[in-house]
Parts: sequence; C-alpha cells; structure tokens
Amino acid sequence: MRSPMRSTAAVLAILLSTTACATMDAQTPAAAQAERLVAPILTTPDAVDSATFAQPQVARVTHVDLDLALDFERKRVAGTATLDILAREDAAQIVLDSNGLVIDRVTDGQGRALPFEVGPRVDGKGEPVTVSLRTDDGQARQIVIHYAANPQADALQWLASEQTAGGEHPFLFSQGQAILNRSWIPTQDSPGIRQTWRARITAPEPLDVVMSGVAQGDPETLGNDENGQGRRAFTFVMDKPVPPYLIAIAAGDIDFRAIGPRTGVWAEPDMLDRAHHEVADTEDMVEEAEKLYGPYRWGRYDMIVLPPAFPYGGMENPVMTFLTPTFIAGDRSLTGLVAHELAHSWSGNLVTNAVWGDGWLNEGVTSYFENRIVEEIYGETRARQEAALDYMAILETLDEVGRDAPGTALHHPEGTDSAGSAIVYNKGAAFLRTLESKVGRERFDAWLRQWFDNHAFQPATSNMIYEDMRTNLARNAAEAERLMLREWIFEPGLPANVAKPDPAAFAAVDSASAAYAASGTIPAAQTWRGWTSAERQRFLRQVPRDRTAQQLAALDRQLGLAATGNNEELFLWLDLALANRYAPAVPQAESFLAEVGRAKFVRPLFGTLAEEGDWGAAIAKRIYAETRPGYHAVTRGSVDKVLGWEE
Ligand code: BES
Ligand code: ZN
Repeated sequence: MRSPMRSTAAVLAILLSTTACATMDAQTPAAAQAERLVAPILTTPDAVDSATFAQPQVARVTHVDLDLALDFERKRVAGTATLDILAREDAAQIVLDSNGLVIDRVTDGQGRALPFEVGPRVDGKGEPVTVSLRTDDGQARQIVIHYAANPQADALQWLASEQTAGGEHPFLFSQGQAILNRSWIPTQDSPGIRQTWRARITAPEPLDVVMSGVAQGDPETLGNDENGQGRRAFTFVMDKPVPPYLIAIAAGDIDFRAIGPRTGVWAEPDMLDRAHHEVADTEDMVEEAEKLYGPYRWGRYDMIVLPPAFPYGGMENPVMTFLTPTFIAGDRSLTGLVAHELAHSWSGNLVTNAVWGDGWLNEGVTSYFENRIVEEIYGETRARQEAALDYMAILETLDEVGRDAPGTALHHPEGTDSAGSAIVYNKGAAFLRTLESKVGRERFDAWLRQWFDNHAFQPATSNMIYEDMRTNLARNAAEAERLMLREWIFEPGLPANVAKPDPAAFAAVDSASAAYAASGTIPAAQTWRGWTSAERQRFLRQVPRDRTAQQLAALDRQLGLAATGNNEELFLWLDLALANRYAPAVPQAESFLAEVGRAKFVRPLFGTLAEEGDWGAAIAKRIYAETRPGYHAVTRGSVDKVLGWEE
C-alpha cells in the first residue's frame, strides 16, 4: 500500500518539527490519520544520527517502491526506486544515502528529469546523493531513481552454487543492519526515519525470492530473458513504517514448510527437514511472547535458514527472520537464537533505537525478552543457565577493558563505540533483569509492555527510556535513585545493585571445572552428554587456556569435542586447540572456516591464530587467502582488521 501524501501545512509542521510524543496530543483528525501512515521523527540532539547524510527535518522519505531485476551472472541488482517524499515547503532538495550505487538518472513522478549530485565519499558511511526537488510547477513529491547496485555492494552476498547445500543454483541474500542497505537501496538509511515499502523483484527460474515484507500472491511468470532463461516476478508489501535497515531479500532454490498457523520456515530442499525440526517450537514462542508483552503486530512470522556464509547468527527482518544454519544442533539446544530474533518484533522492529549508539534499546531489551521466552518454552533451568553464561561475558569484557572504560556504558554518545556485544546485549539484559528483580515481575512486565505499546512503530533514545522508567516504572524519585537508573544507562561499569545470576545455575558444572583444574579429572562421557549445551559451554570456557597436546587429546577423546554437532561447542574447542598450537585440530578448523561465514566464529578463530606467533600467522594467512572471497563484507571487514589484511 502506498502511503498517500497529505499536503496541508499543518500536518507537515507537526510531522517535520515535533517529537513523537508531542504529536500525539495536539492533533486534528486528519493529522492523526496521516500519522498512522507516516511515522514521526525525533528532533532532539541525542536522536541525530551521525551515520546518515539525510536531513529529515528538511525532506524525508516516507515510502520506498522498488522495481528490481536480479542478475546472477553479473551480480547485479538494477531497476528503479520510487520514493515518496515529505518535505518542508521551502525545501529545494532531498539528501539520500548511497554506498557505491550507480545512478543513471532521477526523475519526478511525471518522468521529468531532476538534477542530482553525488557528493564526496566518507569512509564507512558512503556518499550523499542530493536530488533537486524543484519542478516547473513546484516541488516534487515523488522521485524515481534509475540505478544499479555495485556488484561489490556491502549488503549483498552472491553465492556461487558451490556455496549452497544443493550445489546446483546460485543464491543471494542481503544484510542491512546497521548501515549496509544504502549499498543496494537509494533511500535515507537511518533507523529513526521509518518508511513503508513495496517491491517487485524479478529472478530467473527456478529461484524463489523472499523478502521482509508480505508476499502478494503467487509469482508472476514472465517471458525468457536475454540469457534465454524464464523469469518470474515476486511482489512484497510492508505497510507498516519500518527503519530501512530492515528491508531484506533472499533468493535461491528454497522451499517452505509450515510450523503453525502463522509460522513457517524456508530453506534449501536438502536442509528443510533439519531446519524444520530445529524450529518446531516457533509457533509456541510467538504465543508466549504475546502473553508477555502484547500482540505480535506483523502478521506472519516466517524464517529462512540461509547457507552457512550468512555473517550473523540471525537477523530480525520483519515477517522473515534470517538464520544461520550453524544454530542447528539437532536437539534445539541453540534455539535461543530464534527466541531472540522473534523478540526483536517488539524491541527493535516496533520500538527502534533512533541512533546506533543506543543499540542496547534493540539488543539489550531483546536479550532480556529472549530469556523470558526461553524460560516459558524450555523452563527455568535452561533460562537461568543461559543468563548466567551471559553474565560471565559481561565480567570478561569488564576485566578486559576496565570498569571505567566509557565504552562499557549502555548509552554511547554519537561518534563513540561500545566495548562490544557483552555490553550492548548482556549488560543491557542484566539491567532489565535487575529492574525485574527489584520491582517484581508483575510491575516490570506491565512497564515493558506499555513501553512497547506507547512507542510502537517509533524511534526511541536512552533519554526517553530513562524518563519513561522514572515516570512509569519507579513509584517515586527515591525508588528511581535506588534502582540506579542513571548509572545503568549512562555510566560505565556494573552498578552495585546488579542482580547476580543464580549461583545454583552451574553448580554441577562448576564443581566439575574445579576438579579438572585441580587434578585433571575430565567429566565422564555420560555426565558430559547429560549436560545442557549451556553447561558444556560453561565447562569449555573454564578449561585453563594453556593446555598441552596430551591434555587436549585427552579432553577430545573423553568428550568427543571434535565430533560434536553443536557449533557453539565446536567453536570453543577449535579456539582452545588453536590457542595451544594443537596441530591435529588444524584441518578441521580449516574446513570449518571454509564453510562457515558467521563472524562471531570466524573472527575469533583468526584472531587466536594471529596471536600464535609465526605458526599461527602462517596458517591464518594460508586459510584466509582461500576463504576470504567466500565471506560476506561484514565478516571480511572484521577479519581484515584482526589480521591487518590488505587487499
Ligand atoms: N540484529 C542482530 C544482528 C546485528 C546486530 C546485525 C548489529 C548488525 C549489527 C541480531 O538480532 C543478533 O543479535 N544476532 C545474534 C543472535 C544472538 C545474540 C542470539 C547473532 O547473530 O549472533
Ligand atoms: Zn539481536
């Protein structure tokens, strides 16, 4: 659905110049209706996104209509993007984000050429595209960009058929977060500028296309293209305003299988059985999530299990979560990932960080919510163990960077970085867990639910949630003090009132770890198999880092580490082995790195090798020269840094 343009000056003034909250009250009925269709933007200084070239207060995109063809031979996405624009009356131009887009021409809705200019490139940010809005009879309300994405577009990964499970057809997927979508979609690529969208995508048969929008009926069969290949057109609609990093596409030889009435999974045919079995709890998860924090507002919740090159564990693309196949262990032990991506349907997709420096509003809140879903589906024991594992990661990061390092605060002022995912994800979750334990579940849950309801489809900042907690969670100023809200959000380190993880969560495994450290006694194979994955990961993390080859061989023999089908555990084993220059593990590390592109595994393994002198550096170099071309730009970028690699 296209969002109709409203042109009254009153509506423009409200939409362009006031904050989300302020617009709620003083509205005419017409303005109220316009607001349902065009999400408000924030204008406070803490909501100004330094990663975009856009000037949304002057002119902003409200709707994106893509008409694109996928060309697997040339690794090209090309066609048009038609943008609906809401502009101040005196606005002469609109500024968009680009990263390497090849723009042929820009016209208004009537096909009249509009002058445009591509500005100088800024590293990591791309280049601004400034389009004149002046037409003979006033201001363009719609612009049409005729363009192609660069074959090297950072968001897109074109997989050769060898990189798929089926081995016969190529594959394409995108990864938009955080600022990669500007490499294939010319729009304002900022999380605070929400846009509805629609897309018509053509692809060669027999490939199917999925997107993070609702598919409109069956694909339309077209004639043969210039390669003599039949083509089909797929149409998708997202009628809810979303931040543009959530626009996503995947195309390949994929099939679908339903889970429940509103859930299902896509995967390559060879993967579909295993994928379907692993995510069978998803319908129940959606139900539990709704009981916790209110209605699931996106219609269907489907997932696609991608080839192993996907650079993340998962990505919360609306109505179509993207997943790595590496979470499939056969026993659903790593499905916290699914709970996590589902939880983003509230924290992240419904209420979105206005700037990336407030990423904890997406990831920290989601990690907390994830753990609540895990508790409902898999029980308290597993939930507590996973929370305790997360807490361990916070302490490791604080030890590493220091408790007063500014990057350990949840809120990062624009231009500064967090000390890593243990802060954004785990400290964020620990904050909410602390609040829950202080005020009680009932009050906490009511508060979080109203936060989602009152900010649905809108951006948010640390200051906003801080004020909201003071007003709607704390009963009075004294309680707000006691909860240490300001310290948690704005100060480094770990506030004194932190709710510690349940000491019983890992009682068994911790005594086994102590026994191993003291006398080298390895847990019995049967004990090991009886542990949860969180317990096994805890044990592996607690193995003293310096091991001899004999000690490693003994661990592997007794626990079957190299043969595990659980990739989180395999990763910990390979990392430990490489850190000790354990030659028998090198071939397996090499094949793992050749197949898996998930940055969370790949970057640390290369990092560990890089720390192992000439031995490790030589192996890292040899492997990376082979595997680098098969990695997504996200993974390539992070490994390049670790290895000091230059193209
Ligand atoms: N939204 C993130 C992935 C992401 C974060 C992409 C920041 C780009 C920038 C996704 O929801 C996520 O957190 N994935 C984790 C899942 C895990 C915490 C369960 C991952 O990929 O490992
Ligand atoms: Zn996440």
